[in-house]
Amino acid sequence: MLYPLSYEGWSPAGYRSGHCSGGGLVDGRVCNTEPAMNEQLEFPTGFLWGAATASYQIEGGARDGGRGESVWDVFSHTEGKVAHGHNGDVACDHYHRFDDDIAMMADLGLQTYRFSISWSRVLPEGRGRVNREGVDFYQRLVDQLLAHGIVPCPTLFHWDLPQGLEEIGGFRNRDTVSWFGDYAALMARELGDRVHMWSTFNEPWCYAYLGHAAGVHAPGLTDPHAAVTVAHHELLAHGLAVQTMRAERDDLRLGIVINPSNIVSETTRPADDGQIRLIDAIHNRWWFDAIFRGHYPADLLDSYGPLADAIQPGDLDTISQPLDWLGINYYFDIIVRGLDHDDDATRRMLAYPTVHGVTEADEAEIHTDMGWPITPDGLTELLVRLRDDYPDLPPIHITENGCAYDDPVIGGRCSDPRRIDYLDRHLRAIKDAIDAGVDIRGYYQWSLMDNFEWALGYDKRFGLVHIDFDTLVRTPRDSAYWYRDVIRHNGLVERRTGAQ
Ligand code: FCB
Repeated sequence: MLYPLSYEGWSPAGYRSGHCSGGGLVDGRVCNTEPAMNEQLEFPTGFLWGAATASYQIEGGARDGGRGESVWDVFSHTEGKVAHGHNGDVACDHYHRFDDDIAMMADLGLQTYRFSISWSRVLPEGRGRVNREGVDFYQRLVDQLLAHGIVPCPTLFHWDLPQGLEEIGGFRNRDTVSWFGDYAALMARELGDRVHMWSTFNEPWCYAYLGHAAGVHAPGLTDPHAAVTVAHHELLAHGLAVQTMRAERDDLRLGIVINPSNIVSETTRPADDGQIRLIDAIHNRWWFDAIFRGHYPADLLDSYGPLADAIQPGDLDTISQPLDWLGINYYFDIIVRGLDHDDDATRRMLAYPTVHGVTEADEAEIHTDMGWPITPDGLTELLVRLRDDYPDLPPIHITENGCAYDDPVIGGRCSDPRRIDYLDRHLRAIKDAIDAGVDIRGYYQWSLMDNFEWALGYDKRFGLVHIDFDTLVRTPRDSAYWYRDVIRHNGLVERRTGAQ
């Protein structure tokens, strides 16, 4: 799976050469120099500390409470789509256990919780009939969070599109944009008196391209035209939702969550530079340019040609609504290398239509269970670059960051020093960006608990809390107690690995 990025003005030559702090990539290679781990770091007063989840990944209760099917139900029940045939029917059973889960969040000291609303739980067909039981579930969830002093931060779309809408074209169909606007207004009416911080979309690049070009996520298409259409309609739906929600209430703080990434070039052929810039445009500039500058990148529109025929006059005005905050999800930098044969279709990156001749480098020497390299310095660079390239950026919240490691529970305890190390390095990287003047207001670790990791099923464990998927028993890992200390001290304290 690829999750790249970089910005205008960036040149592949000389990119991050020669320095290494806190592990990461130097000249495209993994560097594992030990950082000064024991240094204490305090974050700005009022910085919000939380953890994140998403509806299909944790809720389960797939057939309960009048919920309608989503594209992920259909995809995960289709043979061969998800590792081991796993699906989200039960997941963490959070739908039935949210009370206990919220008590656990409070015990771990979380100040905020980012979750997503299952569109098909509140509107089983995606439009029209409202399912009261589904709305009530989210009202009770929010009430419980508030009762524990935890700030709710819901996302309206974390990839689980109602199947009823998929059957009439999903986000390929321009009508879905207005149905999303209606759904957003409904949620603002139902929860807006208690929930102020909202995001519209989570990682729209993934839904568009992993779902419609690479075919590895629901709905599983391999159609570049569909992917580009979806990429545009998601942004249009975002802009419309901001308008419909603001029409309901004027006290909401609205944002969107994007997953940018630096694109680290390992190719030495000057001819590949243009391709690398295209990857950057697809993964990064498409989203930020449209929202914060009101136009799509010209180089990408040239390359896409008729693939981008869904764009209509006036759309960019709708998309570029002023926002109150921006969510950034960051896991790792993308390393790109050249291919020997330009037309090597088997190695082509399907998730990047029109890109040829380059591909993602193979697994890094030091990596998480996802195969993702560990590149904390990249997060600082990315945040600084975003601030420099988009001066009108609103305050940033890091809405996801974390790593998969399969450390077992032994005698009731789960020691996960590698996760603590990963989080420590990334928090230091965020602090560096704050010190460089980037306005960052919060951090959400991914994820509160192990969950259904999309096409990879339950094997990839991102949780602060371990879940036994046979018994559904929750066991906070050492990292959860470490994070509780971070929150208590509003920053990093001496590194510890033992449960407190
Ligand atoms: C992000 C997704 C999230 C989770 C993490 C590991 O891309 O937003 O749902 O799968 O990756």
